[in-house]
Amino acid sequence: MKKAPIKSIKKTTLTLMRSLILLTYFTLLMSCNQQTISYKEISQRTEASQDMAKKFGKTLKGKLQAAMKSGGPIAAISVCNQQAPLIAAELSKQSGWEIYRTSLKPRARKPDAWDKRMMKSFEQRHEDGDKFKSLFNQDISEVDGIASFRFIQAIETQKICLVCHGDNIAPAIADKITELYPNDKAIGFKEGDIRGAFSIIQPIIK
Ligand code: HEC
Repeated sequence: MKKAPIKSIKKTTLTLMRSLILLTYFTLLMSCNQQTISYKEISQRTEASQDMAKKFGKTLKGKLQAAMKSGGPIAAISVCNQQAPLIAAELSKQSGWEIYRTSLKPRARKPDAWDKRMMKSFEQRHEDGDKFKSLFNQDISEVDGIASFRFIQAIETQKICLVCHGDNIAPAIADKITELYPNDKAIGFKEGDIRGAFSIIQPIIK
C-alpha cells in the first residue's frame, strides 16, 4: 500500500521530465529555423567585412595608381572597368560572400533598396560631421530568399578620383567613359564627398 504513491510520483516526474526535454528540443529547433545570431557573431562578421572592404579598396587603389602612372588616366579607366569587377569576383570566390561597390550616383552598379537607404543615412551623418570611419552599418535580412548578414561602408572621394568622377573631366576621358557607360551618373563629385560604398552580403549558413 505504501509503495504505490511513490511509484506514481516517480511516473509523474518521469513524464514531466520527458515533456521538458521535448519542449527544449522544439524550442532549439525553432530558434535554428529563425536564424538567430548572437551579438558575438554579429561583431565577428562586421570585423571580417571591414577587413574585406579594406582589402578590396587597397588592391583597387594600388592598381589604379600604377595604371595612372604608367599609362595615364585613359589606360586607368580599364583598371576600373575590368579590374574592379575582377577583384570583386575573386574576393567573392574566396569568401563565399557577394562583394561589390555601389553608389547613389552609380556608373556601373545600381544599389538595391537596402544599399540606398543606408547610403542616404550616410549622407545625413556626413553632413552632421561624422567621420568616414564611422560611416558603416550592418543588418540581418533576407536576400533572394536566403537569410543574410549585410554590411555597407562609405567610400570617400579622394583627389585622384576626380580625374574620372569630378567636375572638369578631360574630354578624352569623358568620351571614353560615356562610350563604356552611356547612363553614367558618377560625375560632379568633390574631394571629401561620399563617392559610394562597399557592400557585402554574407549568407548565414547554420
Ligand atoms: C581612371 C578613371 C577612374 C578613376 C581615377 C576612379 N574611378 Fe571610380 N570608376 C571608374 C569606372 C570606369 C567605374 C565603373 C567600373 C566598375 O566599377 O564596374 C568606376 C566605378 C566606381 C565605383 C562603383 C560605383 C559606381 O559608380 O558604379 C566607386 C564606388 C568608385 N568608382 C569610386 C572611386 C574612388 C573612391 C576613386 C578614387 C580613389 C575612383 N573611383 C577613381 C573610373 C575611375
